[in-house]
Order: sequence, then structure tokens, then C-alpha cells
Amino acid sequence: MIIDAAFRADPYPTYAALREAGPIHWSEEFFGGAWLLTRHADVEAVLRDAVRFSAQRTGGWVMQNRAARGELMDFQQLFARAMLFLDAPDHTRIRSVLNAGFRNDVLQQFAPAIGQRVDALLDAVDADADAGFDFMQALARPLPAEVMAMLMDIPAADRGDFIAWSDDLATFIGAPIPSLEQARRARTSLLAMSGYFEQLVPQRRHASGDDLVSRLLRAEAAGDIQPGAELLAQCAMLLFAGHETTRNLLGNGLQALLADPVSWQRLQREPALLPGAVRELLRFDSPVQYTGRRVAADLVLHGRQLRRGDLVVALIASANRDPARHAEPDRLDVARRPGGLLSFGAGPHVCIGAGLTLMEAEIVFGRLLRRFPRLQRVDAQPRWSGNAVYRGLGALPVRQA
Ligand code: HEM
Repeated sequence: MIIDAAFRADPYPTYAALREAGPIHWSEEFFGGAWLLTRHADVEAVLRDAVRFSAQRTGGWVMQNRAARGELMDFQQLFARAMLFLDAPDHTRIRSVLNAGFRNDVLQQFAPAIGQRVDALLDAVDADADAGFDFMQALARPLPAEVMAMLMDIPAADRGDFIAWSDDLATFIGAPIPSLEQARRARTSLLAMSGYFEQLVPQRRHASGDDLVSRLLRAEAAGDIQPGAELLAQCAMLLFAGHETTRNLLGNGLQALLADPVSWQRLQREPALLPGAVRELLRFDSPVQYTGRRVAADLVLHGRQLRRGDLVVALIASANRDPARHAEPDRLDVARRPGGLLSFGAGPHVCIGAGLTLMEAEIVFGRLLRRFPRLQRVDAQPRWSGNAVYRGLGALPVRQA
């Protein structure tokens, strides 16, 4: 796999070549080297197998630069406590606290407020201007940060900070071999997020609300979440995980629909297809392209010897285009019902925010289809940001024809 400019613009031909060449490949392009898994069946099996494949993977990644180990220690200590990077039983304990905050009936309460914010953001654009408006700047960047602010009951006015901090973390996570500078910036931003919640906690401690921060604090009082780093790491992770990804679903999804006007027009005529179409957009151009695991004990996979501690990169975006799982995988088909979608992962760490994301995306695409039926891209050439994990657009200028 060669992570160059061409790959960052369009990784799918590389994934197809890798899949055809075999199910598993060794690559030196990730820190310390990694096993790449290309096929749907293997990616799903690894994500579901929490016994042989551990989610604890931040150590080598953050601390790879020996000279900076002391400097990055506090970053590693906090980062590694986030649920995404924990195994059972800690993972199970924290996840069960947060699950309640993502139940469908809880999420549905936010739907009207999200709809209002989408309308307000779209009221502010001039879609008829020749230059159109940048969909990323006008909606895809601010909205997910605002929605996470609603769920956590924190001021949406602070969204500029949330976005800047998250961008630094995304740059670090998205770099196959992060530079020291990228690690330092991610450290500063993670500590800033943690500090933000640290000053919020005393005011919220006796709150009885249903927001995610209050839920975590009640769990802390009940002894189900440890105070300090464990609590703060979950707050920071929720803030981060909740918007970088959704931003790219909205951007990549709109880009794919406008690049294929037949699909856009079909959704105008058949809005009932929208929920399935959102899943198809997630399959077609996954906002999270890959995730990692560490081998928990020596094992043999497809004839290759994997050693304890080896890094495994599960190529979600490749699995979503595996012809063994999806017929004509390179074709966007808004009427497809993609079973076995891996864009939200699978198994114990499957995305806790999937329901929220699907609801948010349906609201946004529904509004866009109704309000701007003749929407078009201003540039034929998409402006990819180049992040290898969080595939997304830096800008998406659009206008009404
Ligand atoms: C398009 C939107 C999204 C995509 C594509 C996405 C993707 C993913 C994936 C692939 C994983 C599993 C990672 C792994 O197993 O290594 C994951 C986990 C997670 N996601 Fe999302 N996500 C999205 C939106 C959200 C939202 C809105 C939230 C809201 C808080 C969120 C919070 C989380 C959390 C907390 C985890 C860790 C779950 C655990 O470890 O049990 N995500 N997500």
C-alpha cells in the first residue's frame, strides 16, 4: 500500500489491488510496521474478536519517538483511558454507562433542535450566488460540533475550540507515522479538552440532567467510573469522536450524490429511500477508512505468523468495497440495502454514536434535497483534505443551478 497523494485522493484502486493480491499484507508504512487486512470477512472477524485482538494500541503510537517520551507521557496516560482503546472489563463497564445516553428514545428528543440548527445554518447561505457556498464551512464542520454540545449540554459558542482541538487529534490519528510536531499538537489539544471538562465538572456535579456529562458524573458518584483521568478521557473522546466523523459523512455523502446526478434526482422523487441511501453513502466512501488492533497472543492468520503485540490495520473502506460481500461494490446505488456495513466497526467497540449520526445525516440530506433541489458542485475536482483515516473534504463549494 503506498500512501501518496494519489492514494489520498482516491484510495479505492489501491484497496482493490491489495484485496486481489491477498487477504493479508505486511506494510512498513505504519509505525513499527503493521499487518493490513483487506477483505470484509477478515475485517469483521478481527473487530468482533476481542480475545485475540486487543483494542489497547496507543502506547507504541504515542511513544514511538524515544526522545519525546517524557514530554508525551501525560498525553499517553489520558488518551489510553478512552473507551475506544480499552478491553473488557474496563471497556464493558464504561460502555454500559454511556449506552443509556445513546438510546433511540433519548436521541429522538434532540431531532427537532437539530432540524432547527440545520435550517438556521442553511438560511445563512447564498446558494444562488455564482460562487455558491462552501458546504463544509457552512454546515458540515459546525453542525456535528453543535450537536455534541447539545448532547453534552455544553455551550455551542465554544464550538470553535472543539473543532480546532479535534482537528489536531484527527491529524495525529490519521498519520500512519505521526511526526513529533503532530504528536505535540495532539497532546496540547487533548489536554485542553480535558482541562475544559475539568473546570465544568464542579458546576455539573449535582446536576440531574440526561446529558452525557451528567450521566458520567452520576456513574462516578456510584463508583462505576473512576474520577480524574478516566472520567475526563471519556468526555474528550465523545467530543472528538462525535464530529470529525460525521462531518466527513456529510461532506463525502453530498460529494458522491452530486457527482452522480441520477442518484440525487432519484432521492428527490423517492425520499423514502433516504435512510438506506445514508447507509449506502457510508459504505461507498467510509468516513473512517481503517482502525487498528494489537495481536493479544501469537497466532497464524492466512498462513502468516502474527506475534503478540503486532499491529493489525483493519481496512474498513476496503472491506466495504469487497465484491465478495457487495455486488458491484464500486457503484453507488441509493436503493441498495447494504448489509454487513463496517463503517461503524463491529463487535464490542461498534460505534456508540451510529444512531445519532444516521439521524443527523437524514435530517441534513432531507433538508438539502427539499430546499436546494438543483444543487450542483462548483468544481468537478473534489478537494480532499488528505487524512488517511478520516477521509474527507477540506472544502465543497456548491450552488443552485
Ligand atoms: C459518520 C459518523 C461516524 C463514523 C463513521 C464512526 C465510526 C466509528 C468506528 C469505525 C468505530 C469503531 C472503532 C474501532 O473499533 O476501532 C467507532 C467507535 C466509536 N464512536 Fe463512532 N463514528 C461516527 C460517529 C460517531 C458519533 C456521532 C459519536 C458520538 C459520540 C461517536 C462515538 C464513538 C465512540 C465513543 C466510539 C468508541 C466505542 C467503543 O469503544 O465502545 N461516533 N466509531
